[in-house]
Amino acid sequence: MRRARTAVAAVAVLALAGCTADDDGGPATTPSSTSAPSFAAGAEGAGDPYFPTYGNGGYDVGGYDLKVRYDPAGGELRGTATITATATQALSRFNLDLAHLAASKVTVDGRAATSRADGNELVVTPAAGLADGAAFTVVVEYGGRPQALNNETLGVGGWLRTKDGAFALGQPESASTWFPVNDHPSDKATFSLAITVPDGVQAIGNGVPGARRTVAGWTTWTWRERNPLASYLAFVVIGHYRVKVGTHDGKPMITAIPESLPANGNAARALGRTGEIVDYLATQFGPYPFDASGGVVLDDDRVGYALETQSRPVYGNTFFRGQANATVVAHELAHQWFGDSVSLRRWQDIWLNEGFATYGEWLWQEHQGERTVQESFDRAYASFDWTVPTGDPGVDNLFGDAVYLRGAMTVQALRHAIGDDAFFALLKSWPAEHRDGNVTTEDFIAAAEKASGRDLGDFFEAWLFGDRKPTY
Ligand code: TRP
Ligand code: ZN
Repeated sequence: MRRARTAVAAVAVLALAGCTADDDGGPATTPSSTSAPSFAAGAEGAGDPYFPTYGNGGYDVGGYDLKVRYDPAGGELRGTATITATATQALSRFNLDLAHLAASKVTVDGRAATSRADGNELVVTPAAGLADGAAFTVVVEYGGRPQALNNETLGVGGWLRTKDGAFALGQPESASTWFPVNDHPSDKATFSLAITVPDGVQAIGNGVPGARRTVAGWTTWTWRERNPLASYLAFVVIGHYRVKVGTHDGKPMITAIPESLPANGNAARALGRTGEIVDYLATQFGPYPFDASGGVVLDDDRVGYALETQSRPVYGNTFFRGQANATVVAHELAHQWFGDSVSLRRWQDIWLNEGFATYGEWLWQEHQGERTVQESFDRAYASFDWTVPTGDPGVDNLFGDAVYLRGAMTVQALRHAIGDDAFFALLKSWPAEHRDGNVTTEDFIAAAEKASGRDLGDFFEAWLFGDRKPTY
């Protein structure tokens, strides 16, 4: 979903709308005028400098509507994905990302389309070309045994099977292991999920819960995220969980703890602070950006991390072994503003997510009477390897200290440089102005310069791109 589009040349649309697309992307009929735009294949990547193959080009998804059935006994998934999109060029064909699963039927605007798998891409050729600017609907029936994607430097992402169910989780990619998707954060879209699992097993997803139905031993759980999400922020967790349905500030708040963990243990107590932490962060970042909240804990040795899945983060239980510390909860909830509501346009700018989420932890710790933000800064600043540039860390350091810690230090250094008034105004105006949108580091620098009325070029050059300790 994009916020603004350039207008389409109406004449070209009318002239070409009826053309038939061919296989190699050229126009089906030779245009009599050389100036007429021709249908071409959408790119097989969204053009991210770090991950050129992620996502696709030529269209912009508005929403995903998924109906999925999962059988934990056999590890089989069957689904129907209804994807509404807009062509951003005259398209002869386009790709969706779909890993390890097979499409059995594809239609575009109700007409049968041809499709073929090409590695982890599903190549769809509609019966007729799609004009630039045309709205279209793709329906994909698909299925198979989902498998995770293994990235050498970044670890496992996507669908993992468990004893009594499964979960889908990962960054920077995960979604394509369970549904056909334009798998890049630059194409945010609304997301609704109806997932059918055996009776007695729970299925938790993003956003607001809907009606639940049970038919012949199978229960369908429905979840809806009205605010567009970046695809890596979609999740589902299936298994035996203690699901607690409440409200916070008039919005659904759903937490889920595995039955293998105590109902009132550390994990449950840390998650129980979700509402309080959301309220605190809202005093710093402005109104909570989503319609629902909560969190899910996984009791699984493969999950030594947490992820800021939209409106409802997922936490590995490792954070809560021996302690009910909620610092990680503050981190993942801070991401709801920084990363989820305001999303990346390209992965190299990930400090805009992790630097601010770490800064959110620092603020929460100070608010709790633990160490102050300045103390957190001082600890990191005292001994640090400054050789990795925060603003361009490279794929191998995407989740390294240069992103999290130097990112948070950059935030604190900015506060020091421009003063509390301008800084805290910026901390609220940035999420407000870019709500549901996509941003780059350049956008943030411009916003900081506007908030402070100062040229901050040298400041950001030193903190984000230099290879030496910046002065503070
Ligand atoms: N973004 C997550 C956080 O900071 C951490 C993370 C990085 C992660 N890569 C991941 C989580 C892969 C799950 C899977 O909270
Ligand atoms: Zn984070």
